[in-house]
Amino acid sequence: MIRLPYIEPVFRPPSEARSLILQVTNGCSWNNCTFCEMYTQPQKQFSLKPQEEIEQELASVAKSGVSIRRIFLADGDAMTLSFRRLKLIMEAINRYLPDVQRVSSYCLPRNLKSTTVAELAELEELGLKLFYVGCESGDNLVLDRVNKGENFDSSLAALIKIKAAGAKSAVMIVNGMGGKRYSQQHAVNSARLMNEAQPEYLSTLVVSFPTGMERYQQGFQGEFESLDKHGLFQEMYWLLDTLELENTIFRSDHASNYLVLKGTLNKDKPRLLKIVRTALDSPGTVLLRQEWMRGL
Ligand SMILES: C[S@@+](CC[C@H](N)C(=O)[O-])C[C@H]1O[C@@H](n2cnc3c(N)ncnc32)[C@H](O)[C@@H]1O
Ligand code: SF4
Repeated sequence: MIRLPYIEPVFRPPSEARSLILQVTNGCSWNNCTFCEMYTQPQKQFSLKPQEEIEQELASVAKSGVSIRRIFLADGDAMTLSFRRLKLIMEAINRYLPDVQRVSSYCLPRNLKSTTVAELAELEELGLKLFYVGCESGDNLVLDRVNKGENFDSSLAALIKIKAAGAKSAVMIVNGMGGKRYSQQHAVNSARLMNEAQPEYLSTLVVSFPTGMERYQQGFQGEFESLDKHGLFQEMYWLLDTLELENTIFRSDHASNYLVLKGTLNKDKPRLLKIVRTALDSPGTVLLRQEWMRGL
């Protein structure tokens, strides 16, 4: 895949592995979630890339002659850009790379607060069709403890807006985020949020602390207790059991997961619940990802 002059590191969802990554912003404008260290290095301080630079990069890709069908707008919350800037970027993409069929981006729920449905629909028409929304949890207490700056209602409002505009959402929920104490309410309220929003895609990751838990523990006033594998599977069982989805593609296959689950919900709910039940009741009989293969 074509590499542009990025400010590293650059993150993208696993499903965008073959997309052109267009870094229209650097870092994350919030950067305060206690679990997320993706944009904490000094060079990742939040900034917007000028339109001229974006257009130069698009021109260089066009010149290479490679046909680009999918683009992911990086970094952590490119949707913080104004509607005016997003429209200019989408128009430039269409001008330089007419083969592009889908543009996607991470999206914090509050990124959409001042965008109207009509504006989002206009962007969708220009090709901005998919938003990866890090809801992380539907539980207000857990969201508060991890300093997400969002709650059940704000997350739901964004997901409803995306749907109303004719675009799609891919929601991320983080398994283990509430620790032992809040595991069940985290799972059940996350499922309730999904039931109300009916996203097109839902994926789960497992909370990980590559550089330690100090900041995370502060948010929980020191009472956070990590879930072991059994606890993570129990939480997954509660989540799946409470989900009532019409047609959502579900993936729990990110590298941070021990147990890989894939299906369409609710169609595959009985099958997935059975796998999780087996992992809970008969450890050793279900294939798990080894510790050394896990990562963020
Ligand atoms: C690069 S972030 C961008 C998401 C976007 N800013 C948002 O909040 O919607 C992508 C996702 O990675 C996941 N993530 C980040 N740090 C994590 C961690 N330490 N453990 C597990 N998942 C994590 C979260 O689900 C987060 O939404
Ligand atoms: S999870 Fe998203 S909003 Fe939170 S700090 Fe990371 S990139 Fe920013």
